[in-house]
Amino acid sequence: MSQTVEDLRRQAHDALRKTITSNELVQWRSRYLGRKGAVGALFGTIGKLPKEERAAFGQQVNALQSELQKAFEEREQLIRDQVLAQDLEEGEIDITLPAYPRQMGGLHPATRTHREFQTIWAEMGFQVYQSHDVEEDDFNFTLLNLPPHHPARDMQDTFYTTNPKVLLRTHTSPGQIRAMRELGQGGSKPIRVILPGMCYRQEQVTARSEIQFTQVEGLAIGRNIRMSDLKGTISEFAKRMFNTNAKVRYRASYFPFTEPSMEVDVECFLCDGEGCRVCKYTGWLEIAGSGMVHPTVLRNGGYDPSLWSGFAFGMGPERITMLKHGIQDIRYFWGNDLRFLKQF
Ligand code: DAH
Repeated sequence: MSQTVEDLRRQAHDALRKTITSNELVQWRSRYLGRKGAVGALFGTIGKLPKEERAAFGQQVNALQSELQKAFEEREQLIRDQVLAQDLEEGEIDITLPAYPRQMGGLHPATRTHREFQTIWAEMGFQVYQSHDVEEDDFNFTLLNLPPHHPARDMQDTFYTTNPKVLLRTHTSPGQIRAMRELGQGGSKPIRVILPGMCYRQEQVTARSEIQFTQVEGLAIGRNIRMSDLKGTISEFAKRMFNTNAKVRYRASYFPFTEPSMEVDVECFLCDGEGCRVCKYTGWLEIAGSGMVHPTVLRNGGYDPSLWSGFAFGMGPERITMLKHGIQDIRYFWGNDLRFLKQF
C-alpha cells in the first residue's frame, strides 16, 4: 500500500476510536468520507500520477473507502448502544411506556359493505359470480329485453368505447345473462348467485350521483320460484343487514327485464319508521329494485320459461352505506380524501 494511503488509514482509524458522541461521529464522517473529505482528496490526486501507477492506486483508495465506511457503521452502532444503555441506566427511557400505535390501513367503506353483503348472501346460499365491467351492448341492453329502440334505454346514459357495440356496463344486470348461460348448462340447472361490481354512467356528478358506483345484483332460477320466494329472501336479507325487526315493503315498479317489477323499501333504521330527515319523513328507505325474471330474459339465458322461473334484484351498496353512516355526498367514495377514508 502506498505511504499516503497507509498514513490516512491509520490516522482515520485513530480519530474514529476517539469519537464518543454522535456529533463527533458525524464530523469524522465528513472529514474522511465526505465529498470534500480526505479520501475524496486522494481520488483527486490519481490524475497526477504516472499512467502505469493509476489503476493500482485507485484500487487502494477504493478499498480504503469501503473499509472506513464499514468501520464508521460499526462505531455508529456501538455509540448508539452505549447511549441507549446509559439512558436506560439513568432512567431517561421508560421501557414500560406503551409503544406508539402503528398507523394501520383500513378497508374502503364500499369494500366493507360489499363484504358484509357477500357474507350475508353466502349464508343464504348465493354464490358470487364475477361478470365483466366492459360489456357488449347486447348483454347490457338487448338480451335484457331492451331492444335497440326501446324507450327505456334513455334511462341510462352510457359510456361507449370507440366500438359502438362495446360499452362500460351501466348496471350489473347483464351478468344475469352470462351467469345463466355459463352456470345453467343449457337451461338445465337451478342457480343462485349474486353479481357484485362497478357500474358506469355518463351523468352529471352531484352529491347524489356519480359516474361510477357499485351494485350488487342477485339472481335465483329454479323450477317453482315464486314472488313469495323473492319477498321472503329480501326480507331475510334486510333482517340480517339492518336489524332483526326490519320491516320491508314492496312497491309496484317497472324494469324491462322483470315482470312484475317492484321497488323494495326498508323501514328507516335511523328513526324506526317515525320519520326523520334521512327518510324524508316517510319512515321508509329505498334499498333495491327487483322482480320476477322476464320470460324473454329467461329464454335469452337458455331456459324454457314454461318450465323455469326466477327472481332478480339490484342493490346500491353506496346508498346503503350513506344511509347507515349519515354520509351526505356520494363523491366522497371515489374522491380518495384520507380525511374521509380514515373514519372507517
Ligand atoms: N339494473 C337496475 C338498475 O340499474 C336495477 C335492478 C332492478 C336490477 C330490478 C334487477 C331488478 O335485477 O330485478 O337500475
